[in-house]
Amino acid sequence: MNEIDKIREKYIKLVEKAKDESSLEIVRISLLGKKGDVTIRMRKLGQMDTQERLLIGPKLNSLKDDLLEAIKVRKEILSDEALNIRLESEREDLSKPSRPMQSGSIHPISQVTDEVIAIFSDLGFSVAEGPQIESDWYNFDSLNIPVDHPARQEFDTFYIQSDAGGGGEMNVLRTHTSPVQIRHMEESGVPCRIIAPGRVFRSDYDQTHTPMFHQVEGLVIDTDISMANLKWVLQEFCGAFFEVDDVELRFRSSHFPFTEPSAEVDIRCSWEGNKLIIGKGKDWMEILGSGMVHPNVLKCAGVDPSVYQGFAFGVGIDRIAMLKYGIPDLRSFFESDLRWLKHYGFSHNNIPTIHGGISQ
Ligand code: PHE
Repeated sequence: MNEIDKIREKYIKLVEKAKDESSLEIVRISLLGKKGDVTIRMRKLGQMDTQERLLIGPKLNSLKDDLLEAIKVRKEILSDEALNIRLESEREDLSKPSRPMQSGSIHPISQVTDEVIAIFSDLGFSVAEGPQIESDWYNFDSLNIPVDHPARQEFDTFYIQSDAGGGGEMNVLRTHTSPVQIRHMEESGVPCRIIAPGRVFRSDYDQTHTPMFHQVEGLVIDTDISMANLKWVLQEFCGAFFEVDDVELRFRSSHFPFTEPSAEVDIRCSWEGNKLIIGKGKDWMEILGSGMVHPNVLKCAGVDPSVYQGFAFGVGIDRIAMLKYGIPDLRSFFESDLRWLKHYGFSHNNIPTIHGGISQ
């Protein structure tokens, strides 16, 4: 057997023995790489005389073709095998039980905000919003609380620099949602009928106070609005929210700089052990502040108080959530304890609507 046939035989065996694509590649390189057995011989052709070259050249070429073909065939077989192994190992057992799924829940604040919006939407209110970082003007001055007014001290206000280190005017984290009253009247004019739910901030922390909490502001301005309208709206709201037909409210005379007259509103309730019963009994629970919008507030918003008047109210969302769902500690709302969220959270399917019952 001549040398070329020996090489053919040796490499055909090696190719057939290659057990994966990378060992096949090693065989290919030892044949056809820079120093491969075939390459070196091809290179030598140049030094041969014509006759020898005519004899050896075609043989080397056919050797090369045969081996390349053998490699190609083997490569296909190996890649098919590799694919089969992968398919086998990646096969899914569809009869296995599924992994347990953790589903989240709707936070009571989100749920109650949605409930409040559903009720007021039904009464013809739309939803307005304002920034959480406010200027002194919107949070205080425009609401008839000038710098030296004692009410400023009643709010435990967080002050923040308006431009970092610039020594400019201080901004505040809004202490209530009332600045949205002014912003809304400025932007959209009157008459109006809005609620403005959102976050508010006061530096206070105990069982019933957290530095961040939620309010919903209400504002109705028109040419013929009286305290009677305020009473009816709040009565309707409380009845729907607490799901009690004959809810009884008590309007207690109070003072807010931005309303005149002002009233704090209590709801009739009683305690059975630790359980709060809304709507009957001989106790009263304060739930909101309200009143007729002060003429100075209307003026600040560019509204003529000799033509327009209206009412405003501010309800603590967290507070009515605690009352309705029997949640004892406000601080727990914002601790992100998964066990708490699971217990007090709501299902995604529980979408509040007036006709479906506000909470199911
Ligand atoms: N802004 C008041 C508060 O934070 C509530 C309020 C709103 C009172 C509107 C009257 C009218 O306590």
